[in-house]
Amino acid sequence: MSSERIRRIGLENVVMADTEITRIDGAAGRLIYRGYDIEDLADNASYEEVAYLLMFGALPDEAELAEFTADLASRRGLPGPLVATIEELADQAAPMTMLRLGLLYLSALDDREDVDDRDLHVDRGMDILAKVPTILAYFDRFRNGREPVEPREDLGHAANFLYMLNGEEPDEATADCLDTCLILPADHGINASTFTARVVTSTQSDIYSAIVGAISAIKGPLHGGASGNVLRMFEEIESPETAGDYIEDMIDRGERVPGFGHRVYETVDPRAVILRGISERLASNADDPAIYEIAHIIEVHMRNEVGIDTNLDYYSAVAYHYLGIPDDLFPLMFCQARVAGWVAQALEQYEDNRLIRPRAEYVGEEDLAYADRN
Ligand SMILES: CC(C)(COP(=O)(O)OP(=O)(O)OC[C@H]1O[C@@H](n2cnc3c(N)ncnc32)[C@H](O)[C@@H]1OP(=O)(O)O)[C@@H](O)C(=O)NCCC(=O)NCCS
Repeated sequence: MSSERIRRIGLENVVMADTEITRIDGAAGRLIYRGYDIEDLADNASYEEVAYLLMFGALPDEAELAEFTADLASRRGLPGPLVATIEELADQAAPMTMLRLGLLYLSALDDREDVDDRDLHVDRGMDILAKVPTILAYFDRFRNGREPVEPREDLGHAANFLYMLNGEEPDEATADCLDTCLILPADHGINASTFTARVVTSTQSDIYSAIVGAISAIKGPLHGGASGNVLRMFEEIESPETAGDYIEDMIDRGERVPGFGHRVYETVDPRAVILRGISERLASNADDPAIYEIAHIIEVHMRNEVGIDTNLDYYSAVAYHYLGIPDDLFPLMFCQARVAGWVAQALEQYEDNRLIRPRAEYVGEEDLAYADRN
């Protein structure tokens, strides 16, 4: 395939919107949310502050943050019939399917008319942001034969998720690590899932549909589905000594190494650098530091021998492993974080909307006649 055709069918470098949300400078390896560098936000802000920033355009002051945080926390509980459905399906449903079903269920219970009204979109967006972690935690507990742990309003977004998942309140350092892991993927420009959310929004459909569409797009291994594969690769490698050979064999077979490469970054992904630090910190307190060692060896090998850097998924997988999150939930953690960005992007699309409707170039047969068919 010619490189021009490859770029065209992947819509590379096609601008589909003016945005004030996220700027990515792929050449310099910079990611900026509404004017703030990701490093600054990761060091200083909470996930709630970043969600507010993305959705409403500026960092909240103290009173705005208190109101936003309390509002979000008050929406965490799930309606009884949804809890019963999660329990009924937890043994058989794949996690992504469960999440989409959960959101469709919420939309089925929401009998407000689907009008284009900012307050309605924001209200539904807040509900989705608050309830996605609860759906995931309940699902994981039910499938492991455990009772769900009800959300607590006095905990932050990250701490409450770990509390609902494990039934124990995490220490502050652990909750902070997850908080940062949620900030980093909160938005990332017009990636495939965000594009999907904006396309659905552009038809003036409702925000539940936009987010369900986004989750369907993020599910694939070329997008959000890679992080679980990263951990499974580490587990197959078993020891740091064999890591280099394992990767060489993969490359020789023409396989893609999960967690490497990016469509936009020409240099290292800034989120991956922060996640490497978090992973190292978590590994230094863990019983099984080998996973981090293997990850680091592969990273160096891929950079030096193949010339490809890690992406967000790579060290997310390591960090989530040390945070005790099951590997099939890694892509769901990505969804949990990205909801803020999807909602923000949908709100921006509603505000300055035009139906998104590209074209394809027809390259098929011409001038056939039904009567001449064989
Ligand atoms: C993310 C990804 C889909 C971006 O793909 P893309 O922009 O379409 O890049 P291309 O497929 O054009 O790859 C460019 C070159 O790098 C190579 N490459 C890209 N990612 C690679 C990887 N993870 N392992 C090995 N080689 C890789 C390709 O084989 C290709 O080489 P070639 O030109 O000799 O054929 C791709 O890097 C990938 O599949 N990564 C693994 C899955 C992953 O981590 N996904 C999560 C993304 S956040």
